[in-house]
Amino acid sequence: MALQMTLKQQRVCTRASSRQPFRAAPPAGRPRQCVVRVQATAAPNDLNSGLGFQTMRDGVKIAAQETLLTPRFYTTDFAEMEELFSQEINPHLDMGELDACLQEFRNDYNKCHFVRNETFKAAADKVTGATRKIFIEFLERSCTAEFSGFLLYKELARRLKTSSPAVAEMFLLMSRDEARHAGFLNKALSDFNLALDLGFLTKNRTYTYFKPKFIIYATFLSEKIGYWRYITIYRHLQRNPDNQLYPLFEYFENWCQDENRHGDFLAACLKARPELLNTWEAKLWSKFFCLSVYVTMYLNDHQRTAFYEALGLTTRQFNQHVIIETNKSTERLFPVVPDVEDPAFFELLNEMVDVNSKLVKLDADGNTPAFLKSLMKLPLQERLASLLIRILFCKEKQCGSVDIPSSAAAQQLAF
Ligand SMILES: [Fe+2]
Ligand SMILES: [Fe+2]
Repeated sequence: MALQMTLKQQRVCTRASSRQPFRAAPPAGRPRQCVVRVQATAAPNDLNSGLGFQTMRDGVKIAAQETLLTPRFYTTDFAEMEELFSQEINPHLDMGELDACLQEFRNDYNKCHFVRNETFKAAADKVTGATRKIFIEFLERSCTAEFSGFLLYKELARRLKTSSPAVAEMFLLMSRDEARHAGFLNKALSDFNLALDLGFLTKNRTYTYFKPKFIIYATFLSEKIGYWRYITIYRHLQRNPDNQLYPLFEYFENWCQDENRHGDFLAACLKARPELLNTWEAKLWSKFFCLSVYVTMYLNDHQRTAFYEALGLTTRQFNQHVIIETNKSTERLFPVVPDVEDPAFFELLNEMVDVNSKLVKLDADGNTPAFLKSLMKLPLQERLASLLIRILFCKEKQCGSVDIPSSAAAQQLAF
């Protein structure tokens, strides 16, 4: 429904005639394993020949293989989510704060923002060779991540509709935004003649089960890190217009505000479960989720330095800036965050990048027999595991909410 509304709105705003290629209802319940079998053929477009992409039909790309570091689709315990958002069951639910978020979502600031123009296709045709390959990979990863948000929020909206209609509407409006983002990115992929069949992905991709509390930590962080990634790329390209290879990035300024609003709503959800912010377990999970999001992004982006370099960015500098800023946003809420400004933190991450790049290189080596590869990978995997353990124990910062405390003692401090 959110998707239909989105498409309708897009037609109003753009008079666009083509539909986005996703339509299936999101699945529910437990995770499942699916084996996808499709007939692979070479991409017919000349610009894509030799880039190694495979299509399932003309102009529709076979999705990249899932790995530990690729964006995932999530499912959760929806009954527990209903309890969390029930005003009868949960006394900590601050409807005042949630209603403020709802009003922001209803304002729909970006209703007419995602309007394409004729420059897109022409710009895509000018991106060739290795740069084209990394562009397509970036667009696919971003589209999959945005679509993952759409599926999760849409399903939460459906499940909470009866028990918590106001919260359900918030999830519905967030799924509207994510559908727009995913649709816009998929249209960009079609400029490169390799769109994704998102309906097919919905039905066939593996869904990872996460407990509700982990979903809320992880989605809060991914919204905030998404905000900082988009705004950093946008500001950099505004200062360096010669690196603006494709018009998509010009949309990031308003786009990232959607992510920021989503993050604020998820912050309110975390506050509705105080035990997720003020217990010793909360401290462990807060640090753990920060680290897993930062490490995943750092390793992923360093495998794709060519993309950031094509935009005139330095991958390391870009990543470190995004992590430092995301951490600053997060420390206003989480009870503990890693001290990312301690020099030892990025030294550890840089060491992980070195080890990971050796592993990737070894994987790609077609001349070494598989058994020998496995043997050669062992010490590297051991080294990576030890670095991961060391980063779990990295220096941390005790922090937390900056809300005005309501206790009498705190009020006496007022002047
Ligand atoms: Fe998004
Ligand atoms: Fe978002």
